[in-house]
Amino acid sequence: MTIKNTTGPYKITVLGGAGFAGSCLVTKLDQAGYQVKVLSRRRETAKHLILLPNVQVVTCDISDNHALKDALKGSDAVINLVGILHEDGKNGFENIHHQLPRRVTQLCDELGIARLIHMSALQASKNAPSAYLKSKAAGEAAVNEFSKKLDITIFKPSVIFGRGDSFINMFANLVKYLPVIALAKPDAKFQPIWVEDVAQCFVNALENTTTYGESYELGGPQIVTLKQLVEKVMHILGKQRPIIGLNDTLSMLQAFMLELMPIKLMTRDNIRSMQVDSITAQPIAAELGVVPTALDVVVPEYLLNTSPRASYDAFRSAAGRAINARR
Ligand SMILES: NC(=O)c1ccc[n+]([C@@H]2O[C@H](COP(=O)([O-])OP(=O)(O)OC[C@H]3O[C@@H](n4cnc5c(N)ncnc54)[C@H](OP(=O)(O)O)[C@@H]3O)[C@@H](O)[C@H]2O)c1
Repeated sequence: MTIKNTTGPYKITVLGGAGFAGSCLVTKLDQAGYQVKVLSRRRETAKHLILLPNVQVVTCDISDNHALKDALKGSDAVINLVGILHEDGKNGFENIHHQLPRRVTQLCDELGIARLIHMSALQASKNAPSAYLKSKAAGEAAVNEFSKKLDITIFKPSVIFGRGDSFINMFANLVKYLPVIALAKPDAKFQPIWVEDVAQCFVNALENTTTYGESYELGGPQIVTLKQLVEKVMHILGKQRPIIGLNDTLSMLQAFMLELMPIKLMTRDNIRSMQVDSITAQPIAAELGVVPTALDVVVPEYLLNTSPRASYDAFRSAAGRAINARR
């Protein structure tokens, strides 16, 4: 691709670049020849990116505005992917999804960084049923306050799938280890989008001026209910389990009990998010130049570990490293 900046390499700072979607995006930006700085709380989490030739990983406490400002200095563009699904102490939705984007946008303005891409979520709205979706909407609104001064693009994907995802892999683990699946919100609809497609949308939008000032919903080519999704996972894994669909009251009760566990699989807020279908009329806008890939094409490859690189997972596992380590 041609990088338009003529005054040196185009420098992009990515917040949340070491996460699931971020790792895929950073890899693509690196391949496209951009100079990428990844901000992470722990360098260890980003070690899979360190060897990429155009990527620099910087440890940064982004809750500290001075540290964040220093880290953003000199960037041509900033991409913010930081997000959480479950609140945890001071890492609440308000802080992470609303105040952080507000601070990032303000700092971009102060530092003269014109280009900002922000990650929100499909169905984010101030009237949404969940705190997660409401906070994502508050973040969008905070970012958009600068829409006259900065070149901002917002992405709002449905659930994202791909190697290392938490959504499909969580159901795969349940199917592997449980004899019966008690499924909350079985009729909730999703339009899962492949992580590589999401990342490509970001890369294609980066210097495409038609995307400036726009907000894009992103979805894959298939709409599925949660029950259909779990059935697909069972089919791929070759395991048949009875699925007991829970009504709304039992879904909330199950989530309440899961909230008491040390590892959060599902919360009542997640259930509330599923009260609105995570689907979109236009999966990917034409100007983003991405044809979405179907779930059925990609999921078997990583659930069954049939790709050539999957053979390395056995070695990683033997070496005590997580098989689903982000790449
Ligand atoms: N995955 C999906 O299905 C999906 C769907 C719709 C929207 N989204 C949005 O897409 C974005 C990326 O999602 P993802 O699935 O890639 O998430 P992820 O793997 O959990 O990564 C999120 C990143 O956010 C950073 N982060 C989390 N909590 C933080 C905190 N308290 N302080 C500083 N940094 C923090 C982490 O950075 P470090 O650990 O490196 O510091 C991490 O790399 C999020 O905004 C998410 O809401 C995701």
